[in-house]
Amino acid sequence: MLYNILKILRYLTIFVSYIMKKNRPHIIVLPKVFDPRGSLTFAEGGNHVPFDIARVYWIYDVPAGAVRGSHAHKEAESLIVATSGSFTVHLSDGKSTESFQLNRPFEGLFVPSGYWRTLDNFSSGSVCMVLTSLPYSETDYIRDYNEFLKSCGNHE
Ligand code: TYD
Repeated sequence: MLYNILKILRYLTIFVSYIMKKNRPHIIVLPKVFDPRGSLTFAEGGNHVPFDIARVYWIYDVPAGAVRGSHAHKEAESLIVATSGSFTVHLSDGKSTESFQLNRPFEGLFVPSGYWRTLDNFSSGSVCMVLTSLPYSETDYIRDYNEFLKSCGNHE
């Protein structure tokens, strides 16, 4: 009896931590196929990436000191990959900010909806590829930081 309760509690803990992680930004390590000709990485929606991929865009030729992003998405989820070079992604939930240095083409940063993102510190020649769960729609963007804070229930 006690054994069964402990077993159920263990599965419950695993399930809850899975749900919590899904809704938190985290690094996803993608498959990497290495051979003497070089390396290859791939990502399938609903498998390696926790959403169906509706759109891919990439940012490049970023001048030194430029800052990209500065917005949040109401619904869209993203996976951000430094396919070349490096840059830093800062993510805020309106209360605290977490920063991720991306510099590996086989790692993606999962960004749930509802996070204010800014990207900076781009190295020369870097490429930022973003896989996202929705087609482009300006109505999904929050580009005003105060509006974002209000959407989180915080006021500046
Ligand atoms: P913007 O959102 O400012 O880029 P980022 O936040 O990634 O730095 O987008 C720049 C412009 O490109 C803006 O006018 C919207 C347009 N755009 C599209 O038309 N389609 C897209 O998929 C994306 C991401 C942007």
